Amino acid sequence: MTIHIGAKPGDIAETVLMPGDPYRAKWAAETFLKAPKLVNEVRGMLGFTGTYKGAPVTIHGSGMGMPSLSIYANELIRDYGAKTLIRIGSCGGMQPHVKLRDIIIAMTASSLSTPSSGMFKELNFAPCADYGLLSAAVAEAQGKDVGLHVGGIYSSDVFYDGRPDLNEQMVRHGILGVEMEAAELYNLAARYGVRALAVLTVSDHLQTGEALPSDQREKSFGDMVEIALNAALT
Ligand code: HPA
Repeated sequence: MTIHIGAKPGDIAETVLMPGDPYRAKWAAETFLKAPKLVNEVRGMLGFTGTYKGAPVTIHGSGMGMPSLSIYANELIRDYGAKTLIRIGSCGGMQPHVKLRDIIIAMTASSLSTPSSGMFKELNFAPCADYGLLSAAVAEAQGKDVGLHVGGIYSSDVFYDGRPDLNEQMVRHGILGVEMEAAELYNLAARYGVRALAVLTVSDHLQTGEALPSDQREKSFGDMVEIALNAALT
């Protein structure tokens, strides 16, 4: 047990998928894992461990934003020995060619700040994905009927942004989408020598104002979970 995770030692697999929403963790575990078992529910943050194609996998919520993700990722890596962590989540599209329901595989994650900024100080560390995971996820996604984009994303500290000019700079520099967690996951993976990736579904679009109705999110979310699971086990 850690401060925020009630799982017993050995209850967490080396492969962990991390959606922001704990109920998405429940849905993904019940849909894709064999014999999913609830291993954490401290503060309502749900984690499940089961098997996928015979391999142990944990699906654990991260909560929203980098401070929340940082708590869970730190404890999963340091206390439970997680070795491969894949964020599965939604993002806002930032480029005209990025459409609703498309999948973005994040090669890098830019940010204004992360929970690691205090450590990096004046350094502009470049958080990036694990290349092996990234290339496996790209191969998986290419076998599906999904719009796929691979490139940089923006991990924002805020959903309701009082500084839209920052988004404009991201758009201008080719950033594909905005979410709120990946940069810190990539920082922590680098720090602890583990593998990380973020696979994201475009749920809304900053330029068009469109948003995916909740009943249409499930199918896109399912593709993303399968891509992440198969990439992790490649
Ligand atoms: N902004 C930040 N995070 C997000 C968004 C967004 O538009 N959509 C999904 N996650």
